[in-house]
Amino acid sequence: MERTFLMVKPDGVQRGLIGEIVSRFEKKGFKLIAAKLMTVSRELAEAHYAEHREKPFFEELVGFITSGPVFAMIWEGENVISVARQMMGKTNPADAAPGTIRGDYGISVGMNIIHGSDSPESAEREIKLWFREQDQISYEKTIDRWIY
Ligand code: PPS
Repeated sequence: MERTFLMVKPDGVQRGLIGEIVSRFEKKGFKLIAAKLMTVSRELAEAHYAEHREKPFFEELVGFITSGPVFAMIWEGENVISVARQMMGKTNPADAAPGTIRGDYGISVGMNIIHGSDSPESAEREIKLWFREQDQISYEKTIDRWIY
């Protein structure tokens, strides 16, 4: 079973979209493993977005993600990494299909509501970076047998 790291970005928190976003993944049938509302240090932001360090928008990106609370989550399920990316929609909300989170609520490529791991490697790295092992909750959902 796959796990992914998802984060409601500061614009999503400010606009009151945490519940809506959590609800979409719950209704899809994925399992919530960990979640926390938190502020992001510059150190964590730089580590999270390390692959974009050389990009012209890096400072803007780090400034934005540290500008207010985020809601960090781990979700589990079959193919959750790629399915969550589909549910999020394209990075630029202008290109994101209606019905996706960014297509429905996003405004700009910077303020695009949600982050999601883009591969199994980045999911593993991001989960380790944002959550301690003991904060990841193992439990059975009896409904799972009707979904998987
Ligand atoms: S790239 O260059 O294709 O690798 O970048 P991309 O995948 O499009 O975006 C990576 C993350 O950077 C954010 N981003 C920006 N932030 C601020 N300003 C600008 N111009 C900008 N362009 C891209 C984008 O929202 C992605 O954030 P995450 O959290 O990874 O979705």
